[in-house]
Amino acid sequence: MKKIFVTGGAGFVGSHCVISLVENGYVPIILDNFSNSKKNIIKKLEIITNKKIIFYKIDIRDKKKLRSIFKKHSCYAVIHCAGSKAVGESTEKPILYFENNVGSTLSLLECMRERKIFKIIFSSSASVYNLDKKSPLKETSELGNIKNPYGTSKYIIEKILADLSNFDNKWSVRIARYFNPIGNHYSGLLREDPNGKPNNLVPYITRVIEKKLPILNIYGRNYNTKDGTGIRDYIHVMDLAEAHIEMINNNRLKKGLKIYNFGTGKGLSVLDVIQKFETQLGISIPYKFAKRRKGDTAISICNPKKALKDLNWRAKFNFEQAVMDITKRIK
Ligand code: WQD
Repeated sequence: MKKIFVTGGAGFVGSHCVISLVENGYVPIILDNFSNSKKNIIKKLEIITNKKIIFYKIDIRDKKKLRSIFKKHSCYAVIHCAGSKAVGESTEKPILYFENNVGSTLSLLECMRERKIFKIIFSSSASVYNLDKKSPLKETSELGNIKNPYGTSKYIIEKILADLSNFDNKWSVRIARYFNPIGNHYSGLLREDPNGKPNNLVPYITRVIEKKLPILNIYGRNYNTKDGTGIRDYIHVMDLAEAHIEMINNNRLKKGLKIYNFGTGKGLSVLDVIQKFETQLGISIPYKFAKRRKGDTAISICNPKKALKDLNWRAKFNFEQAVMDITKRIK
């Protein structure tokens, strides 16, 4: 059975990839420093998958330790999800973000090269696009005009990986640009549970529903959208996990660079999102309008056709399913 390293495998997207990997007959090996996740995630993954999960607590910038792990397991490919992801924090601590995200990627690539592992899937983000351009966004849409160091760090890593595959044809590089991942595994055991106050809309709403936060602030009411609030393409994290499997299965990790958008192709405004939670749960969510959040954009929607064509992948779950899975653990 093929072993796949998952950096950040205890994190939100990484842990869901681990489940899909096991379900598809791979052996995931988690590399994580648990800086934004809890150790008990491993136990939960073992309950869900009914398998022993191999994991290492490691900051992947620690090359010595990383080398020793790479020596221990011969792996087929690496899914690289590790990285700091709080957009707001990145504007306060840009150096930290570059050091963490870019630094760890370089360390990882160096160790992969030494062990002759040349297959990598990188967790990138829609934030690399010039989001002032018209949605839906294609993989060929304009990049840049990035609004925060988090997004810039993803962009820089993409450029490093692209050069790597351009100048060394041994590499197989896949760049996965996620739109807005939400939801959790249907067991309800895993959750998107950031340390501190959530930055993202859906985890914030969840905390308001749980009465752990009093009220939702809607950032901006006068965007050029149907109801004035920001529109995003929310994708169920299990769909995203499956997308990673599709990149690996059927010998698709062929040499060279490929870039894929992963989203649903449909947009929901902040008010739509609130309304969907309210209708489905029969509750009312307290909210107030606040000023626009720095670096936000009006609309970000994906054109997912390339993933359908090349990988036969499309999002299967709708927003209602995500609400159902999220609220399983609230009840
Ligand atoms: C969605 C909409 C907000 C919170 C970011 C990163 C991206 C990706 C996902 C992650 C916007 C509004 C939000 C709140 C609100 N990376 N909002 N009140 O900004 O599209 O994307 O997270 O790990 O790279 O940029 O997602 O969920 O923060 O916001 O009104 O309390 O909800 O203004 O319109 P975003 P989000």
